[in-house]
Amino acid sequence: MSTISFSTAQLKKEAERLFCHLKSLSWSYDDCLTYAPLTLEINTLKRQRHAVLLAHSYQTPDIVYGVADFTGDSYGLSVEAKKTDASVIVFCGVRFMAETAKILNPKKRVLLPAPDAGCSLADSITAADVRILKKKHPGVPVVCYVNTAAEVKAESDVCVTSANALKIIEALQGKKIIFIPDKLMAANLAMLTHKEIISWNGTCVVHERFDVAQLRAQRHEHPGLKILAHSECNSDIMKEADLMGGTTDILRTVKNSRDRDFMIVTECGLVDRLRSEFPEKRFLGTCNLCPFMKKNTLRNIRQVLLKPRKDQVVEIPETVRKKAERALERMFELNK
Ligand code: 13P
Ligand code: SF4
Repeated sequence: MSTISFSTAQLKKEAERLFCHLKSLSWSYDDCLTYAPLTLEINTLKRQRHAVLLAHSYQTPDIVYGVADFTGDSYGLSVEAKKTDASVIVFCGVRFMAETAKILNPKKRVLLPAPDAGCSLADSITAADVRILKKKHPGVPVVCYVNTAAEVKAESDVCVTSANALKIIEALQGKKIIFIPDKLMAANLAMLTHKEIISWNGTCVVHERFDVAQLRAQRHEHPGLKILAHSECNSDIMKEADLMGGTTDILRTVKNSRDRDFMIVTECGLVDRLRSEFPEKRFLGTCNLCPFMKKNTLRNIRQVLLKPRKDQVVEIPETVRKKAERALERMFELNK
């Protein structure tokens, strides 16, 4: 039940706005009319609370097109979080992303609608594990993928995202690096750099499930198909794909390409975004769902704006935050 009432004209206008974005995803106008009271209420609450809603591209289309103020990849979201002048950041993504927002802009109230939105990569390594690695390999710089907890970033020398990992590794001094926690991304980077990479044993439960046989079957059926894969996939996929990169690299490639047929080897949210934004192109094959990303819903976004629970407010001890901020700031510096 909405806490605010809207006129029929307002509801129809909102349904039309949603329908423009969602029709190519087979949403009907009536589906959009059903969602309109909730998206209108959330957008009103955001204004009342001076809140900005940041959403990762893997969020569902009702969030991306209904209520998000900015949608992007881990890097883009961290840039937005750092520069926002809103008082509240509602983060529709997973915990490590909301933590990154808090690390970079500590005076803001950062709310995570789904506090149990973890990540198999971030959950694969602890700060104590990093300390052991550093003892074993003294003097070797620790490069942490952004998909890590604040405490792990605090133990690292520099943070990277899928959008800048190779550039930053190449910019570091020395011939060896420790790259945590994604062993598949580490193997993919090793194919592109001369540096020796000491890796950890983490994997993404979404990307490790893709099989190169799926790609070959699609290519066989659709000659001319372009395969764009996320760098968290395994190296066999990378050898078969036309592009390995982050979600923004994939989006940019589709946008700038004259090709029509694509297979997108990543989470389904990005495929929905592409179908909505490039209705003239075809997206073939299957995608995988991230169970953590999908924990955010319009219902828990509304609830967090109305009355956040304690577990939905992101807090990081100041000593950890300051050290983690150094690793993130080094990323911004080296990414220039
Ligand atoms: P991007 O930064 O490429 O959007 O990736 C985030 C992520 O969690 C991929 O699984
Ligand atoms: Fe983590 Fe994989 Fe989900 Fe990304 S898709 S949030 S890496 S589990």
